[in-house]
Amino acid sequence: MPALQNFINGLPKAELHLHLEGSLEPELMFEIAKRNGIKIPFNSPEEVRAAYKFNNLQEFLDIYYQGACVLIHEQDFYDLTFDYLKKMKADNCKHVEVFFDPQTHTDRGIAFETVLNGISRALDDGKKQFGISSFLIMCFLRHLSEEEAFKTLHMAIPYKSKIIGVGLDSSEVGHPPSKFKNVFKAAKELGLKVVAHAGEEGPPEYIYEALDLLEIDRIDHGNRCLEDTALVERIVNDGLTLTVCPLSNLSLCVVKDLKQHPLRTMLAKGLRATINSDDPAYFGGYLNKNYNETQKALNLTREEIITLAKNSFAGSFLSDAEKRKQISAIEVYARG
Ligand code: ADE
Ligand code: ZN
Repeated sequence: MPALQNFINGLPKAELHLHLEGSLEPELMFEIAKRNGIKIPFNSPEEVRAAYKFNNLQEFLDIYYQGACVLIHEQDFYDLTFDYLKKMKADNCKHVEVFFDPQTHTDRGIAFETVLNGISRALDDGKKQFGISSFLIMCFLRHLSEEEAFKTLHMAIPYKSKIIGVGLDSSEVGHPPSKFKNVFKAAKELGLKVVAHAGEEGPPEYIYEALDLLEIDRIDHGNRCLEDTALVERIVNDGLTLTVCPLSNLSLCVVKDLKQHPLRTMLAKGLRATINSDDPAYFGGYLNKNYNETQKALNLTREEIITLAKNSFAGSFLSDAEKRKQISAIEVYARG
């Protein structure tokens, strides 16, 4: 194995942009479908994988929401989450901040409590068994209305201690952040952190809206900020983190080739970019594969890799003391 790949694999790191439903591997999808008596329109996990060819975000979302329909019982949500944490243990990931989409499940008649309890129990076990700390972020589906997002926020109130923040995902273009201004204000008033997908497919104006109207604490993706110099300057000056997802960007045709990925440019401009996997079961790679493939495509240096790992903790919602501890561990590891 090349030395830099070895270095990446052992490097302590955090993941800040991961949709739990997007970590549902075809094998687990089949297993859960079987025990729940659900028919899926494929004959094997290989056939499912072969169908994962996307030209844009919407083509992916249509398949992703269909896949999530096998999840019914608390144990299904537990298994989904715990399988992801096993992968993160193997990738030497120390901390995760993961998304879930409650509306994808409550709209099918699954209780919010079922989803939340399954996920939380697995996150607790991940801490006990693997030493991986975690925060949970509840996303609103932006193709639905703000009124529906409010209903979800109200459902979450009894479980507030288990949720660190809210996010905004699903079909970006045509559903600007402004549509969710009031529900984000309410979430903030409840003391929750706020993040939003912005500038994945949507224009820089959507990033401005996420900053000005939603007052986000972190930008998910944010690629298209690079089209606007003043916006880049503002994000740098505000010290906001971008949760960049290279293999996702490649799969969804946000970039044509990983060699053209803007990650290195982002770092050069002083943006606090991080590497994440987004929906790894659909995009062909977990955290280390995202680091390794991007390193090879862009010829990232050891120093840039260290910066990316440090950014993953600096941009997290951990306490300042915990961030310092994790960043020192990276320095110790890098000294060898
Ligand atoms: N939901 C899951 N993955 C997503 C992505 N990359 N963009 C928007 N919504 C999503
Ligand atoms: Zn995402």
